[in-house]
Amino acid sequence: MNKLRTFIFLLLILSPVLQKAQTKSDLAPSPPMGFMTWNYFGVNINEQDIKTLADAMVETGLRDLGFNYIFIDDGWQGGRDNKNNIIADSKKFPSGMKSLVDYVHSKGMKIGIYSDAAPLTCAGYTASLHFEEQDAKTFAKWGFDYLKYDYCGAPSDWQTAIHRYEKMSKALKNSGRDIVLSICEWGDRQPWLWASKAGGQLWRTTADVRDKWYSGKKVSNPSELHGLGAGILDILNLNADLYAYAGKNAWNDPDMLVVGLYGKKGAPSSELGGKGCTDIEYQSQMSLWCLMAAPLMITCDIRKMNKATKRILSNSDIIAIDQDALGKQAQRVVNNETWQIFVKNLANGDIALGILNVTDNEQIANINLLDLGISGAISAKDLWSKKNIDLSKKGYISTKVASHETKVYRLKF
Ligand code: GLA
Repeated sequence: MNKLRTFIFLLLILSPVLQKAQTKSDLAPSPPMGFMTWNYFGVNINEQDIKTLADAMVETGLRDLGFNYIFIDDGWQGGRDNKNNIIADSKKFPSGMKSLVDYVHSKGMKIGIYSDAAPLTCAGYTASLHFEEQDAKTFAKWGFDYLKYDYCGAPSDWQTAIHRYEKMSKALKNSGRDIVLSICEWGDRQPWLWASKAGGQLWRTTADVRDKWYSGKKVSNPSELHGLGAGILDILNLNADLYAYAGKNAWNDPDMLVVGLYGKKGAPSSELGGKGCTDIEYQSQMSLWCLMAAPLMITCDIRKMNKATKRILSNSDIIAIDQDALGKQAQRVVNNETWQIFVKNLANGDIALGILNVTDNEQIANINLLDLGISGAISAKDLWSKKNIDLSKKGYISTKVASHETKVYRLKF
């Protein structure tokens, strides 16, 4: 009896500690979702815009659909103070970071910040090399929940990169706050092989996405995309092969959603041929990113979305595919000149099936499910048209697919 009492006593004392240890390793059980400032605003960000964006996330219903982060990207920094504490640009953030973070938290949202593993960031602002512990503590003190850690200005070898990311990961763990670490070295050093072990919950797999469909050139290496300008299809072609590396707290990050940007002039997404996409292509990006269990980072100005953009971003059936509890990235089971076909296993035994027409013309897909190794499906719900197909008597799906369109079905058994 005494032993039992001691056991229960110890359990009660230790349970907060055990719980804490658990949360530390479970910071991103599903791919993070939210709004990221970079593609639309570049470095021209300020507290007023961020506050009104947070308001809009709530008013548009996007927060309640799961887009519960605001990610502040490059351009917020104002140097260091006389104690070497990193500080925000006081013109852009006159009320200070703590007050902005409190505001976003008061909206029921989380908030992310940005730095770089070198002296300066990609846009030339103060970064965190040699100040990892101090900066991590500052980010924690301000109340940030997430850090995107970039790699401009750093040496190209793998070892240094792994070391610098490990260092920031340790600093975040010592910061007194749970902070997600997003690794951003663009896939140049195959981070899917080491980023999780180095302490990251997600890692970029390619160069920056531009607001375009395709560069026109098939590349086999992410680094080749830097100068070409990576479109949706370019990124898909590389990221899709990495499905085996994705899982809970360890996501391949194929970069932000360009949905709704429509070639916004002067924005970083418009560089290198980013002239904009059609709504079908934007819908395809949303579909493909969700099939690939990608982090979903909206970048268009959600304060003035048109109907098509809102429809694409707010499809809860599609979002559920991305956020599914099994945490699997779809496997690309067909990849030829006409079709790319994706199969994603889901937690309740359903299967998500994605069919992308890569050609420039409408095509008819005749998909025999048995050819994909799928048997026994009784129905398929088209997650965009919301129509159900009865499969109880036939094992195939026949459908028209527009050029660059991705059909997504949820198969039930
Ligand atoms: C790099 C990153 C982008 C963005 C910019 C900011 O290019 O890949 O996502 O963060 O830096 O300067």
